[in-house]
Amino acid sequence: MSPVERLRANCDLPDEELRNLLETDLFDEELYKAADEVRRCVYGKDVYLRGLIEFTNYCKNDCLYCGIRRSNKAERYRLTKEQILDCCAQGYALGYRTFVLQGGEDPFYTDDLLCDIISSIRSLYSDCAITLSIGEKSEESYRRFFECGANRFLLRHETADESHYSRLHPGEMSLANRKQCLFTLKKIGYQVGTGFMVGSPYQTTQNIISDLRFMQELSPDMIGIGSFIPASGTPFESFEHGSVLLTLRLISVMRLMFPHALIPSTTALGTLHPQGRELGLKAGANVVMPNLSPVEYRGKYAIYDNKICTGEESAQCKDCLQRRIESAGYEISGSVGNVKRNN
Ligand code: 5AD
Ligand code: FES
Repeated sequence: MSPVERLRANCDLPDEELRNLLETDLFDEELYKAADEVRRCVYGKDVYLRGLIEFTNYCKNDCLYCGIRRSNKAERYRLTKEQILDCCAQGYALGYRTFVLQGGEDPFYTDDLLCDIISSIRSLYSDCAITLSIGEKSEESYRRFFECGANRFLLRHETADESHYSRLHPGEMSLANRKQCLFTLKKIGYQVGTGFMVGSPYQTTQNIISDLRFMQELSPDMIGIGSFIPASGTPFESFEHGSVLLTLRLISVMRLMFPHALIPSTTALGTLHPQGRELGLKAGANVVMPNLSPVEYRGKYAIYDNKICTGEESAQCKDCLQRRIESAGYEISGSVGNVKRNN
């Protein structure tokens, strides 16, 4: 059997064979094909849309790669509760049934304010999922948000290797805490998404294997990976961006290792390649996260340079994506898009 067939049969390979698979392009076509077969087996042609609302670009953290880190010069904004609810209303009318509230770690949004926003969305849209992507909080805060009606949480671990983590983050942040947050979120009952950047500075193949091993331990419902893209003004502004091919290869590997996972085809892929998101879907991804933020703020949520979809109205994005998804051979699903569990 080829390594791809064995990976598919066992949902796993020994480290050495994973390394070989990740470091060659020889198996790419076979990988894409196997991953697409597995995704069709579990999810059919369905692609789930998640409406992304980037509600604040203030951040108290200083991750070295991120364009909205606190020490970067950036025009900052915050959305009001009313603006956020407007985004949801527009998204609902367009057919979105998941709202993702994403932001920097911004203490302006106290737990009380977030609970007020989450409860309002929950009471207006009882048939929708509410996903939070707001970083590291205490167990108590995570519990409060869950009780108000949030049911999913995205928190990329960024890298599962201690020394790599410390080269991407300032000393006050720790991998141990990030991992702990992920296990806490699972324990509370959230559907949990994690992930990492492909081609971040100093990343080795061994680091990526550690990421895959950590995700086997966590067993996340969603796995988001995107190529690293340098952001102006950050310490990494002159580094090379991550490889699109390696990102696609990893999407396929993850589909074979985690057949039931929700895997987004990310905006970062679309930024690096005009058909990046279509290629991501064909490599095994089954989720797309269009932007629902008000157009006047989109350009300001600049976590990396040249981010796409900053000038389009939400409705245009939906139409554009629908064409892209269909041209790749898939269909938008109107369902809330829960994970199909392995049982
Ligand atoms: N390039 C690509 N992805 C980035 N992220 C942050 N900065 C960058 C960058 N320069 C990713 C991180 C974060 C997610 C919201 O965006 O993985 O978790
Ligand atoms: Fe936003 Fe194409 S998805 S313009």
